[in-house]
Amino acid sequence: MQYWMSANWKMHKTIADAKALAQGLKDQVNANLPDDRIVPLFVPFTALTAVKEILADAPGFRVGAQNFYPEEQGAFTGEISPMMLKDIGIEWALTGHSERRHIFGETDDLIGKKTSYGLNQGLTIVFCIGELIEERKAGRVEEVLTKQLEIGLADVPADKLPNLGVAYEPVWAIGTGEVAGPTEIEHAHALTRCWLGKKYGEAGNAVPILYGGSVKPETTASIIAIENVNGVLVGGASLKADSFSKIVLA
Ligand code: PGA
Repeated sequence: MQYWMSANWKMHKTIADAKALAQGLKDQVNANLPDDRIVPLFVPFTALTAVKEILADAPGFRVGAQNFYPEEQGAFTGEISPMMLKDIGIEWALTGHSERRHIFGETDDLIGKKTSYGLNQGLTIVFCIGELIEERKAGRVEEVLTKQLEIGLADVPADKLPNLGVAYEPVWAIGTGEVAGPTEIEHAHALTRCWLGKKYGEAGNAVPILYGGSVKPETTASIIAIENVNGVLVGGASLKADSFSKIVLA
């Protein structure tokens, strides 16, 4: 199993800043990256081409978009299609991120459509799931994650799984400094693995399940040591080359 040590830059970085960060990561990571790790970076649309160019000779890196709309083209003002991403050489994207769900109101149905459409168009997708704090307190973690998985992956057949990762990101741990505890992470990842196994059989075991939510250099090694954790998705701590390099190589 490959570890996906991923970054989500969110709405940060001008092109110049993005280039400096990509160069810094390449300098610190490229020569030291273990064979079983890759480094997907989800960067703003405006910086995709510049970052891709800088990392062209750094084989462990992947460059992806944070969003796309599940149509080829049409009257969808403000949206970008997978075809347009592929036109600039971008083959990775996120779906289901909690900020898309909770700030922009994306529903499970839309996220499911995006996930299957993106995969069908040849993108590799990191599909994010995670519960709100109220849902956790009400003992609804299993119900919420199961529903997100069922609808989000409803139209994803087993033959697309080599291009899929799932990220478990408890919403209350995103950008808050509060990391989920090892028992909470282990439970959510086991549940996700079990669900993938039930739906897809053996093929479900090969899907990387990433943890996200306030991951820092000092916490990464212990998080990726947890069973069924096959990488991380990092926001805040991915914005500086020094801290994200430490995470990638932890
Ligand atoms: P964070 O963000 O590392 O800043 O908590 C993670 C994410 O939103 O993917």
